[in-house]
Amino acid sequence: MEKKNSILKIENLSVSYGPIKALKNIDLYINEGEFVSLIGANGAGKTTLLKAVLGINTIERGNIFFLGKDITRKPTNVIVSSGLSLIPEGHIIFSSMSVLENLQLGAYQSLATFKENLEKIFEYFPILQKRSNQIAGTLSGGEQQMLSMGRALMSKPKLILVDEPSLGLAPKIVLDIFNILIELNKEGYTILLSEQNAKKALESSSRCYVMKTGEIAMSGPSLDLMNNPQIQQAYLGGC
Ligand SMILES: Nc1ncnc2c1ncn2[C@@H]1O[C@H](COP(=O)(O)OP(=O)(O)O)[C@@H](O)[C@H]1O
Ligand SMILES: [Mg+2]
Repeated sequence: MEKKNSILKIENLSVSYGPIKALKNIDLYINEGEFVSLIGANGAGKTTLLKAVLGINTIERGNIFFLGKDITRKPTNVIVSSGLSLIPEGHIIFSSMSVLENLQLGAYQSLATFKENLEKIFEYFPILQKRSNQIAGTLSGGEQQMLSMGRALMSKPKLILVDEPSLGLAPKIVLDIFNILIELNKEGYTILLSEQNAKKALESSSRCYVMKTGEIAMSGPSLDLMNNPQIQQAYLGGC
């Protein structure tokens, strides 16, 4: 149930790319401490929604509130400084820099707590400590995704938006990534996860929104959606 002081609240949001209506009247909320997933096929509008929250996409209509403040049409740097962090699709990193330098860049807003944050990141991702002097572009896909997550966490965000972290990764690594997200949520991080892997997303999150051609087709507790025949048919391979 929506709490009075939800961490993120999106009201009636619409976004278009020229004639393409990518988001149509989206309503969504996230309470503090929740792990919410956003599932939907390729092209449903998941990335557009996350980018709109970050102020990257131009908002046509609607409002976005973060920690009670209206952030609609605010510049991205202002939104990020207020405690929102996006882990983008395609594990984007600075490939010619070392692992440590990538993490340092993520901490530019919280230099005072750099050492403490870095230790925490190395606890979540021991492989990043092992590889800290390695050039990031030489890491495996899974390690790059972990670096991308680690870099976002260096600023100690109040809400993390994670876009398709499992895309293109081997099943064993996908499992690791989801386990880390579950652990981060247990440690207090509030998470909005966008995923085409509906099964893993529903298993990890407590609540879920289903997107279909720019609209929220359904939403509710992940457990309910997992047991919903329509969802099973359309997103879980009929299992
Ligand atoms: N930069 C863009 N220019 C034009 N159309 C875009 C752009 N980005 C996404 N779209 C379109 O918007 C819709 C939603 O895309 P997207 O948000 O990337 O979906 P998802 O992340 O769920 O795969 C799709 O129809 C896609 O083709
Ligand atoms: Mg996407």
